[in-house]
Amino acid sequence: MDVSPWRIEWSDELSMSNAEIDAEHRNFIRLVNELNSEIMSQQRDKAVVERIMKQMLDDAIAHFAHEERLFIEKLYPAREEHAQLHAELISKFRQALEEIHATEFSRLWIETGLEIRSLLINHVLFEDTQYIEYLRAE
Ligand SMILES: [Fe+2]
Ligand SMILES: [Fe+2]
Repeated sequence: MDVSPWRIEWSDELSMSNAEIDAEHRNFIRLVNELNSEIMSQQRDKAVVERIMKQMLDDAIAHFAHEERLFIEKLYPAREEHAQLHAELISKFRQALEEIHATEFSRLWIETGLEIRSLLINHVLFEDTQYIEYLRAE
């Protein structure tokens, strides 16, 4: 059994009742786990850490654009505020990627991995779940 604090598992609490959005969120959980297990492994490889973070950044850009299209389609009233949070996350991810790129392994990498994990999970849990009822509306 995996009891590492560096891992997070999907749970129904995170479900948006939309198969595509859920699949994209599950992908982030997988990437967050890959990132943290690479950062914490004895054989950690900086190129792998950067590749996972770059993938996460690219997927986040595509996922946020997807959500923002749904906000317009579903007339979600808080779409601008939510889009602003997406923009802040993207800039934090970019900054984190630059910091990892510019340094060798240190405590900063561990903190960065955990911060990315909590930023993403908190966004899904506390922000994305606010548009569920709009998402369900026809
Ligand atoms: Fe999302
Ligand atoms: Fe979002």
